Amino acid sequence: MKSFFHVEDIGNLDVALKEAFEVKKTPFAWKHLGENKTIMLVFFNSSLRTRLSSQKAAINLGMTPIVLNIGQDSWKLETEMGVVMDGDKSEHLLEAIPVMTNYCDIIGIRSFAGLIDHEYDYNETILRQFVEYGGKPVISLESATVHPCQAFADLITIEEYRKKQRPKVVLTWAPHTKALPQAVPNSFAEWMNAADVDFVITHPEGYELDPRFAGNAHIEYDQMEALRGADFVYAKNWSCPGTTDHSQYGKILSKDMGWTIDAQHMAATNNAYFMHCLPVRRNMIVADEVIDSPRSLVIPEAANRVVSIQVVMKRMLEELQ
Ligand code: CP
Repeated sequence: MKSFFHVEDIGNLDVALKEAFEVKKTPFAWKHLGENKTIMLVFFNSSLRTRLSSQKAAINLGMTPIVLNIGQDSWKLETEMGVVMDGDKSEHLLEAIPVMTNYCDIIGIRSFAGLIDHEYDYNETILRQFVEYGGKPVISLESATVHPCQAFADLITIEEYRKKQRPKVVLTWAPHTKALPQAVPNSFAEWMNAADVDFVITHPEGYELDPRFAGNAHIEYDQMEALRGADFVYAKNWSCPGTTDHSQYGKILSKDMGWTIDAQHMAATNNAYFMHCLPVRRNMIVADEVIDSPRSLVIPEAANRVVSIQVVMKRMLEELQ
């Protein structure tokens, strides 16, 4: 595996899930793979789960993790091409990438969408530079448009808790105070479309995800209708993806608190499990009564972040042997 951005990078999902449960059962069984190997984890943005789960997975595999927080531990990096560097950025990615990849065998990058330039973000401009100039396997630790480690962990969690062969999974938009990227819903949609589930997306009009990610999912603008009979409810805020009108990209079109997932919403479901990638704003995205209920899977999901990225690292290390 040369890179981990999309669901197709993991190959057959049944095989990947089987491997995930083996990793979960015996996390130290592949410790020899990481001997004398280093992974660099580069963060342009904040993180709790991704930062810690990546380090834990690397350690489980016998690999040494190095974490770099851009702009805090390092020089501020210029990411635009051809600019006069007369601002506060001291180093260009063009030098920083090959320097960083010289010091490691695998590199993971967290680099959020800027939510200003649709083309720049949806071309995954920064991630692609790491592929082009780094020459080492690259893992998206949430980049402009995707968060595959999260989506794989979500799939593992659904597989663990599903009671029927083909559960109904609903991705629902929920309100937030800030404009958030679409990486989590994009990847969740991409992975659910590839999985054996009945997948529905619900959001206010204007929040349509890019068809590359929404695929053939059923879109239902009536949230209560979408939730009816759901086995899993996955709540997430995202800003306008600008799918049909790029001038709307990154805008907040609604803060309708009627979309907050509370007990009344969950009552429409088939006693569904509640899911969210975290961090979550309580009583904006989800009511306390739901996230604190026994049907909330937010902590098992976060625990599975170690498993999902460990499978990815394991496969990359196997190719490096
Ligand atoms: N879900 C997730 O990626 O969490 P962090 O932003 O804390 O890493």
